[in-house]
Amino acid sequence: MSQRKRIKAVIPAAGLGTRFLPATKAMPKEMLPVVDKPAIQYVVEEAVTAGIDDVLIILGRNKNNISNHFDAVPELESNLEKKGDLEKLDRVKKSSDLGDIHYLRQGEPKGLGHAVLRSRSHVGDTTFAVLLGDDLIDARDPLLDRMLDQNEATGLTVVALMEVSPEQIHMYGAAAVEPTDDPDIVKVTGLVEKPKKEDAPSNYAIIGRYVLTPGVFDILERTEPGKGGEIQLTDALQELAETDGVYGVIFRGRRYDTGDRADYIKAIVQLAVDRDDLGVELRPWLKDFAAGL
Ligand code: G1P
Repeated sequence: MSQRKRIKAVIPAAGLGTRFLPATKAMPKEMLPVVDKPAIQYVVEEAVTAGIDDVLIILGRNKNNISNHFDAVPELESNLEKKGDLEKLDRVKKSSDLGDIHYLRQGEPKGLGHAVLRSRSHVGDTTFAVLLGDDLIDARDPLLDRMLDQNEATGLTVVALMEVSPEQIHMYGAAAVEPTDDPDIVKVTGLVEKPKKEDAPSNYAIIGRYVLTPGVFDILERTEPGKGGEIQLTDALQELAETDGVYGVIFRGRRYDTGDRADYIKAIVQLAVDRDDLGVELRPWLKDFAAGL
C-alpha cells in the first residue's frame, strides 16, 4: 500500500439503473454481479488498493442491500467454517473487511454534483477521490494511483480522461485539453457535459474517476442545474479549470461501462476468461461458440 497522505473516497450510488429494468426494480444496479462480485465491490476494492481506507457511499432509495453487502454475516461465516469451505469463507469475509465504509442518503436525486456536495461534512476541507460505480477499471491497469500522484505533485484537481469515438462523446463530459511534457497527462482548459458531436471540444471523455480539491464544494453550492436539469459535477469542474486549474490523466487501459447492457456482458466475459478458476472452461467454449455464429 502506498505511503501517501490519507484521503477519503466518495462513491455516488444513487442512480436509478433504468437501463437494466426489470432487474433493477427492487435491486440497485450497483449490486448487479460481474462474475461473482457486485459491481460496486470492484470499485470499493479499487479505492482500497490505491491506499484509501475511508469510503463514503451516497445511497439513493431502495439501496439498502449495498450496506448489507459490505456488512459481516456471522451465521453465513460460521456455516461455511463448519463445512470447511475456506475458499468461500475467504471470499465472503473479503467483502466485509474492506476498510471503513460509511453511508449517506442523497435525499432528492438532483444530479451527480449534488451527490458529491452531500459528502461535504464527511470529507471536510481536504482533497478527496470520487469513483463512479458504472465505470469499472480493470485492476490490472492502474489509474487512481496515477491521479493521486498528479494531485500530490501539483495540489490541483485531476480527472480521468479516455479517448472515445466522436459518436460516443455525447454520453460523457468532454474536455478541451492542452498537452504537457508527459504524454499521459494533459492540462484541462474547459469541460462540457454531454455535448453534441459537433460541439465537443475533443474526443477526450471524462470517465468516472476524479481527485478533487475541497474548493469544489463552494462552487457546487452555487452551481445551477445544467444538462438534464441536474446539478452537474462537470459544470463545477469547468469553473475550477478556469480558476485554479485541472489536470487530466489519460487512461488507455481496460474500462467497462457496467451501466450499459452490452458492455456489462463484455465485462463479465473478459474478466471471467482471465480467471484461473473459470478461464480453462470458458476459453475453448467461447471459441467454439464464436465459430458457430
Ligand atoms: C457522469 C458524468 C459525466 C461522465 C460520466 C462517466 O455521467 O456526468 O461527465 O463522463 O459520468 O461515466 P452519467 O454517466 O452518470 O450520466
